Amino acid sequence: MKRLTILGATGSIGGSAADLLRRHADAFAAWALVGHRNVDRMLELVHMLRPARVVMTDGEAARALSGRLPAGVTLESGMDAAIAAAEAPEVDMVLAAMVGSVGLPAALAAVRAGKRVGLANKECLVTAGRIFMETARASGAEVVPVDSEHAAVHQCLVGHDRNSIRRVVLTASGGPFRDRDPSTMADITPEEAVAHPNWDMGAKISVDSATMMNKALELIEARWLFDLRPEQLSAIIHPQSLVHGLVEYVDGSVLAQLAEPDMRGPIAWAMQTSPRLESGIPFLELARRGRLDFEAVDETRFPAMRLVRRVLAGGDSLSIAFNAANEVANQAFRERRIAFTDIVRVVEAVLEASADVSVDGLDDVWSRDLEARRRAEDVIGSRMGGRLDAAR
Ligand SMILES: NC(=O)c1ccc[n+]([C@@H]2O[C@H](COP(=O)([O-])OP(=O)(O)OC[C@H]3O[C@@H](n4cnc5c(N)ncnc54)[C@H](OP(=O)(O)O)[C@@H]3O)[C@@H](O)[C@H]2O)c1
Repeated sequence: MKRLTILGATGSIGGSAADLLRRHADAFAAWALVGHRNVDRMLELVHMLRPARVVMTDGEAARALSGRLPAGVTLESGMDAAIAAAEAPEVDMVLAAMVGSVGLPAALAAVRAGKRVGLANKECLVTAGRIFMETARASGAEVVPVDSEHAAVHQCLVGHDRNSIRRVVLTASGGPFRDRDPSTMADITPEEAVAHPNWDMGAKISVDSATMMNKALELIEARWLFDLRPEQLSAIIHPQSLVHGLVEYVDGSVLAQLAEPDMRGPIAWAMQTSPRLESGIPFLELARRGRLDFEAVDETRFPAMRLVRRVLAGGDSLSIAFNAANEVANQAFRERRIAFTDIVRVVEAVLEASADVSVDGLDDVWSRDLEARRRAEDVIGSRMGGRLDAAR
């Protein structure tokens, strides 16, 4: 029996993982479930999966849950308890699915403890990719991507020599605004941005998909996961989201992974690569689907994809600033404090003011992350307001 800790159990990825655990209860069990604030969802999950331990990182949520758990389930609160659940000796695998760079300490603890880590939380690699992957190499931890594009690439790399890779291509649906009139992009509401055409995801990543910040973050994630040079990384628009990722080899062969868009596929792959696990996703009927379309990314419509080239060519500090500024701007947009088109403008303004250096320790990561967050708030609060009004 393999025992799991799920970080971010109450989220969208956590829900897909819960379904897989239910399907494979003979071979996998939840040892710890970690959530933040969603008490009702955690209660449902506890009754479904019967973990030994529950952690709510938010103290108030933990108090609200207190006394409501079945006998034998222990309750803890705070990020330190989440870290302890990630590195506990009872655990074989950790699914890292908190949202944002707040998920880094617990995911890194799992890596340091040598666990198999299913990594959904891309912000970990964007903020501390070098440290994360070096720690995995030192501990022997296996990091298996849960992002669908990276899980696809991971599958296309099996059995191939690394030096034979020419390029890795991540597909992008283009989100809900791929064909929207650019002159109306500033009017996009949070409700429109969160409604993704192909994927049912959490609010933050849905907005990231709409700006294509998500694809930009994924290129940085791929760089660290697969140890690639910037010129080996590219993205292509594929509106149907059926081809998830491709690897071009030096002999001209291109391997691709296809599946219906459903995160249970990548999570099942992260849980067990061989033999493959039945995941519950419907089989891909290509004859019924009829066509697969591809087009180049329009960097004028999606300036995040232009900006990320600078980040990929630069030092670690730029990735940290890129991610932190995006987290702040994404939230500000969801809170209706800025327009949709301002998200990338805020990120660009923060990047312009950030140093371009390499970063070695976690303390340095956090201080640069904080600095970028403060800068982003300043941009939103002052300069941006003026620019915005002028633009409308
Ligand atoms: N959803 C997808 O299809 C998908 C695909 C690829 C990659 N990912 C990545 O997977 C991660 C999770 O995405 P998601 O869509 O599942 O997000 P989500 O539905 O918003 O869930 C986020 C999870 O993180 C927890 N959380 C939020 N703020 C927290 C904090 N301050 N401290 C600790 N935990 C916190 C939430 O807890 P509460 O809800 O209890 O507050 C929830 O369990 C993200 O990094 C995303 O980029 C997601």
